[in-house]
Amino acid sequence: MRDLDGKNVVVTGGSYGLGKELARSFVQEGANVYLIARDPVKLDAAVQELTSQVQRGRRVKGFAADVSDREAIFRAIEAIALEGPGIDVLVNNAGIVIPGYFEKIPIEAFETVVRTNYLGAVNSTKAALPYLLKRQRSAITFTSSLAGHKGIFGYSTYSPTKAALISLAEVIRVETRGKGVQVSVLCPPDTDTPGLKSEKKVRPPETSAVSGSAREMPAAEVAACFMRGFKAGKFMVICDFMGRLLYRMNGLAPRLVDFYMDATVALARRKKGS
Ligand SMILES: NC(=O)c1ccc[n+]([C@@H]2O[C@H](COP(=O)([O-])OP(=O)(O)OC[C@H]3O[C@@H](n4cnc5c(N)ncnc54)[C@H](OP(=O)(O)O)[C@@H]3O)[C@@H](O)[C@H]2O)c1
Repeated sequence: MRDLDGKNVVVTGGSYGLGKELARSFVQEGANVYLIARDPVKLDAAVQELTSQVQRGRRVKGFAADVSDREAIFRAIEAIALEGPGIDVLVNNAGIVIPGYFEKIPIEAFETVVRTNYLGAVNSTKAALPYLLKRQRSAITFTSSLAGHKGIFGYSTYSPTKAALISLAEVIRVETRGKGVQVSVLCPPDTDTPGLKSEKKVRPPETSAVSGSAREMPAAEVAACFMRGFKAGKFMVICDFMGRLLYRMNGLAPRLVDFYMDATVALARRKKGS
């Protein structure tokens, strides 16, 4: 989808972090942008910040809702569609991570992450799709992760939800084929956001060792990379060299990737032990 001028774009998890930068990249393309997140104070701050950058006649608005609350998200998306009017692009970006050792993570944490990362995207897509299908051209995108391509140490709550998003995107792509809906998946590397900062304080050292081999990217850089891929109609958008390498190698030689991961984890454990 190349021309975003005047298009109505919904970004879940758009109040800070990567979502806010994705929202900004749509604002810069001349779109009307609607942010969804839970905390109304942070949402208002993002709306104010992005409003100062909108093009003439365009708008940014915030709608407080939790993506895991089906009724709330349907209400928010219906309100946006009424306001738009209509919706052209849905960016499913809201996501959380609860890292740790599988054996130690309470079962409720798995439920929370599934409800937010996977069912949150299902809820938002279910609510928005009827509006997207009314357009000649529309788009849905999912923020997954490289951890959706390969199960990563310490991410037992998270990796499966990100893999599920890739699979969901594949199904929606094929089911909406011929109906003008562009479907894409963004797999960011470690990206400098409030979410990553909090996660780094609590994640196992083995997880840091595995992630440490990739450069942390500024969120604005990831958003710019996403926008290039989105405008080029790419399905899978991966922004960094290590990410592309992991993606390709895991397809071609998964045992080699396992070997590398195992060796990195073993080294981190030796360091932890000493
Ligand atoms: N940062 C990375 O290194 C990285 C790498 C790969 C993939 N990702 C993915 O990129 C996305 C954004 O990550 P981030 O690092 O930018 O996270 P972040 O800094 O924690 O920002 C998360 C955003 O999502 C919103 N949010 C969280 N839970 C929500 C819910 N239940 N309902 C509605 N909004 C919710 C937050 O606002 P409220 O808290 O106010 O709701 C905030 O706007 C996530 O899907 C994440 O998995 C991130």
